[in-house]
Amino acid sequence: MNTKRWEITSLNQNFTRVIEEAARLLMEGEVVAFPTETVYGLGADAKNDAAVRKIFKAKQRPVDNPLIAHVSSKEMLAELVTEIPDYVKRLIEQYTPGPLTFVLKSNGTCAESVTAGLDTVAVRMPDHPVALALIDKLQGPIAAPSANLSGRPSPVTADHVWRDLSGAIAGLIDAGSTGIGVESTVIDCTKEIPNILRLGAITEEAMREVIGEVNFDESVKTRSNQYKHYKPDVPLWVVNLSLEETQDLIEQKRKEGFRVGVLGKNEFVSQLSSDDHFYLGDTLEEVARNLFSGFRYFTKEKVDIVLCQSFPNKGLGKTVMNRIEKAASRII
Ligand code: TXA
Ligand code: MG
Repeated sequence: MNTKRWEITSLNQNFTRVIEEAARLLMEGEVVAFPTETVYGLGADAKNDAAVRKIFKAKQRPVDNPLIAHVSSKEMLAELVTEIPDYVKRLIEQYTPGPLTFVLKSNGTCAESVTAGLDTVAVRMPDHPVALALIDKLQGPIAAPSANLSGRPSPVTADHVWRDLSGAIAGLIDAGSTGIGVESTVIDCTKEIPNILRLGAITEEAMREVIGEVNFDESVKTRSNQYKHYKPDVPLWVVNLSLEETQDLIEQKRKEGFRVGVLGKNEFVSQLSSDDHFYLGDTLEEVARNLFSGFRYFTKEKVDIVLCQSFPNKGLGKTVMNRIEKAASRII
């Protein structure tokens, strides 16, 4: 398949034409990758079962792993579910549009393959002009997982999508890097007390401020964590070590014949001597934004192992550590 690639550089130049062309492909039952504020998504018309099945095929995703329906208004969200609990209304008020996905009781409007046959549906309103315009043009929800090959790090640039999926999808809208860089927080809202299934930029602490009680039982095997995730090309080790100890480990591994890469905040990376390195930035927000680019940077041609800094396990640090631990083959 020939993958059409559009570039949107300025919102007022070719924006309308690109949205029209991409929406036309969606209406014809094709899949199109598009940016959101978190990561790039791989979209199809959420009401068209045959179209949604093409998403699973293109990214080689297990068919029992359900997708998020992306909406452009609160009204469109309400059209997909049986009821909206009061605490969800409060979260919507505070964080929508934004990186928060609600799992609610489905009323069956979305195609069966979106929900993988469950009686619940995951819904979110992305905070990105391209995503919102595309949903508006389609006049209905877009089902979309992250636009990576299953098991690979989520894409935060159009080039990441291109490397994983060119030739397997009908279109790709390139609108530059995504802002947040980690996927949305997923929260199960089918119970009296909501339960976090996946952490994102909206933290546990932030949600507690709005609605009080929120559960997060990390030991529970949810659908979000039973699949392989974020697999880098080379083994990644998380290091809970001082700078000096990390440098010692680098030296030791090099003596054993390994080429060693380092991944971490600027101040961490700049003080280490290694075979290759990737700077994640100065703040936790920058670390989140650049993390998946860092995972994808280290290839077998460059290094044999990557040592990744660990971060304090709270707030956005907890979200970042969740991704790093899923990518890691060892924790030291
Ligand atoms: O930021 C994001 O969430 C990105 C952008 C594109 O919106 N999307 C994304 O989708 O990360 P995906 O498919 O990679 O992750 C969605 C997660 C999966 O772990 C899936 O198992 C879970 O949401 N999920 C979807 N529907 C669900 C449901 N009905 N019940 C429980 N979990 C569900
Ligand atoms: Mg994903």
